[in-house]
Amino acid sequence: MSATNTLTPDPLTPTTLTPSAKLYDTSQKIGFSCLLIAQAFFVSYLIAGYGFTGLSEGVSQWNRFNSTAYVAGDYLGNAMYAAHVLLAIVMIMGGSLQLMPAIRRKYRSFHKYNGRLFVTLACSISLAGMYLLLSRGTVSTPLLHGLTAFSGIMVILSSFFAIRAIRNANVALHQRWALHLFLAANGVLFFRLFIFAWMTLFGTLGINTADFTGPAVIGVSVLSYVTPHIIAQLIWMANHENHVLLKICISVTLLLVSAAFLIGLFSLTFGIWYPTITG
Ligand code: HEM
Repeated sequence: MSATNTLTPDPLTPTTLTPSAKLYDTSQKIGFSCLLIAQAFFVSYLIAGYGFTGLSEGVSQWNRFNSTAYVAGDYLGNAMYAAHVLLAIVMIMGGSLQLMPAIRRKYRSFHKYNGRLFVTLACSISLAGMYLLLSRGTVSTPLLHGLTAFSGIMVILSSFFAIRAIRNANVALHQRWALHLFLAANGVLFFRLFIFAWMTLFGTLGINTADFTGPAVIGVSVLSYVTPHIIAQLIWMANHENHVLLKICISVTLLLVSAAFLIGLFSLTFGIWYPTITG
């Protein structure tokens, strides 16, 4: 399993790898593996929490997970929320399969149909999310709402450009936009992982807990919704120009991100997800 050739269709064979190239390759594999583990926990939370609780106790109980999940009498809003969280389960499960080169190579028609499903779900979830943001709101400030909305807009734009590129048979450009789409669609998970990693390491430093604002929240939002796209561009540049120093910087960044993912996941799972499901 590897995510590396999302941007490098012809990876070097292991025997030709220099130590820095090996570090670069390994850091991408570690980052992708940590993300897969986090996605597995996130999906389990959504299935066990929203899925089973909705079936066994009714959707009004969803407010245990999020105070804005269910509003009595607001049928459209509740339907949007249900679509937002339940479709996310399918989208997340299918999304990572798209980046696995072995699956792309062996099961081309699966890649094609799963890709169409992913694009449809990611765009629908993003539009439903924007509706929820406008109609129900959430904690925080317009700046932070804007950063979340940015990830929704990136989902829609990247979908458009990824489809257009493959229709023009431009596989390299398709892969670049598909990676942006994948990163944008995972932005909300990145945010949860990074903010919990931050709180585990630094407590409420930089966070105004009354309204969930402050420099740390802004920093984590930028890190989750904007920085992944910059890193994707840098990876493309590093591959394209075979820039060794840039590859080393990216490798170190990806290893730090992987560590933050695992810290955040541990803290989220045992601090929030598991207690709210069982409680
Ligand atoms: C496309 C990827 C997205 C996924 C997978 C996703 C997933 C989720 C999930 C699972 C929840 C439930 C929260 C929980 O129980 O922890 C949620 C809530 C919410 N999402 Fe999204 N979301 C996405 C994009 C967006 C976008 C682009 C927006 C807005 C522009 C948005 C706005 C909201 C709002 C307003 C809530 C409810 C309030 C809150 O959590 O504060 N989402 N989302």
